[in-house]
Amino acid sequence: MRVLVVGSGGREHTFAWALHQSPQIEQLFCAPGNAGTAALAVNLPIGSERIDALAAAAVRERIDLAVIGPEAPLAAGLVDALRERDIRVFGPTRAAARIEASKRFAKSLMERAGIRHARGRSFHEARPAHAFIDSFRTPPVVKADGLAAGKGVVVPATFEEAHASADAMLGGRFGEASEIVVIEERLAGLEASAMAFVDGRQVQPMPLSCDYKRVGDGDVGPNTGGMGAYSPPGFLPPESTPRLFADIHGQVVAALAARDAPFQGALYAGLMVDEDAASVLEFNCRFGDPETQVVLPRLRTALLTVMEACTEGRLAAQPVEWSEDATVGVVLASDGYPGSYETGKPIHGLNAIDDDVQVFHAGTRLTEEGAVVTSGGRVLTVVARAPTLAEARARAYDNVRRIDFAGCIYRRDIAAREI
Ligand code: AMP
Ligand code: GLY
Repeated sequence: MRVLVVGSGGREHTFAWALHQSPQIEQLFCAPGNAGTAALAVNLPIGSERIDALAAAAVRERIDLAVIGPEAPLAAGLVDALRERDIRVFGPTRAAARIEASKRFAKSLMERAGIRHARGRSFHEARPAHAFIDSFRTPPVVKADGLAAGKGVVVPATFEEAHASADAMLGGRFGEASEIVVIEERLAGLEASAMAFVDGRQVQPMPLSCDYKRVGDGDVGPNTGGMGAYSPPGFLPPESTPRLFADIHGQVVAALAARDAPFQGALYAGLMVDEDAASVLEFNCRFGDPETQVVLPRLRTALLTVMEACTEGRLAAQPVEWSEDATVGVVLASDGYPGSYETGKPIHGLNAIDDDVQVFHAGTRLTEEGAVVTSGGRVLTVVARAPTLAEARARAYDNVRRIDFAGCIYRRDIAAREI
């Protein structure tokens, strides 16, 4: 089989690492990939936003299965484009990807399906938006309806900030993506990521995980793409999860199927958990990053087998087994991230890592001399697996300290709250 992974982050390196273990795969490609995927796959220099170029490359390379990582190409119809060319794809169509690409759509779907979520409404004009903001007792959350590269959510500290955010978004801060804003109540609690494999009808839960969005220890500083993650969270009893997936993912998948937009791929619900009750903050139409880096190392069944079952609508008959071990992943980033930062810094220590610890690359590239250098904000995720979170955490940090590049930053508190 010839398999193409689309994307260039730690999530996509993790896909490549897991897929590479299947002997059926004769050639793996990654577009555009990074220095980590280059060791497992042929990197094709095509950005994940170039739908036509990716579809053409998939035909040229006679791809049997494509796996799409990021949301932007999903929302732009990459799956549809590949299917038109008779290429099998793991990932939702453009119509099903709306569950992430429009927060208003997701909200109306949740309302109709009776899924617990933050109370709110959407607006395309400032005046009613301001009136709605003032109807809350504490400042509500303001969100751009569309995709804004993870920057479209403001959790304001004051009403002034809420009003200003609504004005900025409706005034075009995120272009088309913020022509509509969603304003909703601010929920409290602990966040967890609930991802599932979906084949159009059937839902197979993955273990829960938690990511750390803020750049600094103790959740201070700006939001990032994710500075670390662990699995499983201790604050949601595993007994409660089948019910949770049935009530949330099961409902969404049924609703999308009923609208002739069946969802196939990975469906991710971002949850706020408060005293055992979970509310949905958002849906993503894809695997999370860095959640993937801590969840897929726990998958015992071959990832290729599960993904193929999803694309063929036979997930119900496919056992999906998980390790009981815990995992902790720590992201190493470039100083300055998520603002501006320098790149091109040589990365040292990658061969000093324990054999059973994984280093998933994101912003890395190979120089002509074969050296690995930094090329992005998030550079690496170091992932350790062990029988307990405490051991996994200790081993992850022990290995993190062996890696070094100029301006390397990382959070010291990933999974600390569980120990
Ligand atoms: P989203 O992209 O919708 O998940 O939002 C990004 C982050 O904003 C979430 O992970 C939460 O930390 C926060 N957030 C979003 N919606 C809410 C809400 N209704 N209440 C509190 N925090 C929220
Ligand atoms: N880690 C959050 C996301 O992938 O959207």
